[in-house]
Amino acid sequence: MTAESRERVRRYFDEFGDAEWHRLTGDVKGRVSLEVHRRFLARFVKPGHRVLEIGAGPGRFTVELAALGATAVVTDLSPVQLALNAEHLRGTAAESAVERREVLDICDTGRYADGEFDAVLAYGGPLSYAFEQAEDALRGLLRVTRPGGVVVGSVMSLIGIWRHYLPQITEEAEVIGEDANDRILHTGDLRLKGEQEGHICRMFRSGELSALIEAAGGRTVALSASNWASLSDPATLAVLEADEDRWARFLEHEVTACAEPGAVDGGTHLLFAAQRPG
Ligand SMILES: C[S@@+](CC[C@H](N)C(=O)[O-])C[C@H]1O[C@@H](n2cnc3c(N)ncnc32)[C@H](O)[C@@H]1O
Repeated sequence: MTAESRERVRRYFDEFGDAEWHRLTGDVKGRVSLEVHRRFLARFVKPGHRVLEIGAGPGRFTVELAALGATAVVTDLSPVQLALNAEHLRGTAAESAVERREVLDICDTGRYADGEFDAVLAYGGPLSYAFEQAEDALRGLLRVTRPGGVVVGSVMSLIGIWRHYLPQITEEAEVIGEDANDRILHTGDLRLKGEQEGHICRMFRSGELSALIEAAGGRTVALSASNWASLSDPATLAVLEADEDRWARFLEHEVTACAEPGAVDGGTHLLFAAQRPG
């Protein structure tokens, strides 16, 4: 990642501000995504765990770490997001689970000791913002995780985003040109749009993500999409969500479907658990 890309991403999230707090609650697909991420996290973080949270944003998953009985060193590239994290947790029980907060680039974990955390959490794409430094960044996350411990994260999913946003991507190709569109679909690198402002990240195919985990010295122990059946048809989802029993059943089916090998590339995000060899 160049200093310019890092600055651009930091500026984007500084300006995005509290909108990030509402991303996973404002609509039904966001609420399903929150549930898929929560349940995936609960498979790996246990009471008493000390966790390094990377790209914590305003704190949706800091709250979840606290609910799971873990403690957390809470970090983010954006000082604005870190301040929002403190604001959202102030006066809540979750705040007592926060050891400290600090500004941190995912590429710069050298300040932490080898194996000092039971787990690392990097939800919402911090690795997607590391671009060509993603492998080194992930190697750093595995280094600070204890042997046998797990790095849990999510990145943007190339194939799933293409499917879900096909109308917008087709329109955009008319502006940036079909060659640029082809290059983005080959590499997942949104910097190839050539714009100077706006959201940039690297999207991954599941095979690329597994290869990255292996190259960084980890072992892929779980993958999941977010989401599978809940990215379209909000009207049907609203009917299901209005009925507690049907909604609980739907969420069970959706979480199971997201983890099917044939589904992992189908969501907007790809969740992963990468284990540091014991
Ligand atoms: C989409 S938000 C996700 C927030 C939260 N983890 C969640 O899943 O709800 C992405 C977060 O990653 C942070 N971020 C972006 N690039 C980063 C980097 N290089 N190192 C650390 N954090 C980064 C952003 O500032 C932002 O708060």
